[in-house]
Amino acid sequence: MPPVAPPLTPRALRTRWAVARLQRLARSPDGDGNAAPPFGPVAAMGLSFASPIGLAAGFDRRGRLLEGAHRLGFGAVEMGTLTPADRCPVLSGRAADGVRRGVSIGKPRHVGWDDAEHAWLRALRAFHAGADYVTLNPGRDCPSPARFAALAGAAVQLRNRLARHRLRPLPLVAKLTSRWLNGDAASVIGVADAFVAAGIDGLLVSTEGRRARRNVCAVLRALSEAVDPRICLISVGGIDSVDEVEARLAAGATLVQVHRALLAHDPRLLRSLRRGARSR
Ligand SMILES: Cc1cc2nc3c(=O)[nH]c(=O)nc-3n(C[C@H](O)[C@H](O)[C@H](O)COP(=O)(O)O)c2cc1C
Repeated sequence: MPPVAPPLTPRALRTRWAVARLQRLARSPDGDGNAAPPFGPVAAMGLSFASPIGLAAGFDRRGRLLEGAHRLGFGAVEMGTLTPADRCPVLSGRAADGVRRGVSIGKPRHVGWDDAEHAWLRALRAFHAGADYVTLNPGRDCPSPARFAALAGAAVQLRNRLARHRLRPLPLVAKLTSRWLNGDAASVIGVADAFVAAGIDGLLVSTEGRRARRNVCAVLRALSEAVDPRICLISVGGIDSVDEVEARLAAGATLVQVHRALLAHDPRLLRSLRRGARSR
């Protein structure tokens, strides 16, 4: 008997519904899906992004919005998080104009941290060819940033070996989870330095929860002053308005990502981002 897929959780159903709604919106000839992106193009990690605003991982796991995302005002879609056994047909297709394909990779939940490196490297091999950049997602059970930075170092080495199949090496981003960013500036910089030393190209600074949210601009400022300016800082967590986008960019982020605010208020959020950005 073929395996039975587990039922979708209400959250997963809500996300699917939102993706389908945004797909329709992107296709509408004269609606919200046909305007210039809010905020101008930016360059980061050797890539050009039509807009600094991207879709965060978990929203569009399989890249269904890739084709229409530029019409919605996004510069990137971060697919995944994908594990080595996942299939993602869109990653073998042609890249959509102007929208960068990020792929978040991780290990399956049942794989322990002793075997984690193997899982990440398999995922990197599986998805590197179709991605513009890859984000390493530590997941919830990562024992420490040092452990994850060591894994990032192994991923950088594999990325460099795979580079001969590409025009340029694939940019690698490490996701820093909120719980690693709650200390003082010195400890936050210490965490970031380990990933920079490992050779990654970007840091996805994730701020979830009230405490992390309160400190986010201070964290971004500390990082942007301390780390090599070639390292791209991407801010995610609590971005729900133009003011919030502007604050993150002013504090040192080059790119930002949205998730829950879009889930809750999709066309309204897109419209307000566009209106707010135009009136600047
Ligand atoms: C339903 C849901 C699924 C998510 N799935 C992933 C995921 O697969 N990988 C990941 O790195 N982050 C995942 N996230 C985290 C988001 O990418 C984002 O970092 C987080 O929601 C904070 O941004 P927000 O405040 O704009 O929602 C998920 C979040 C939500 C709400």
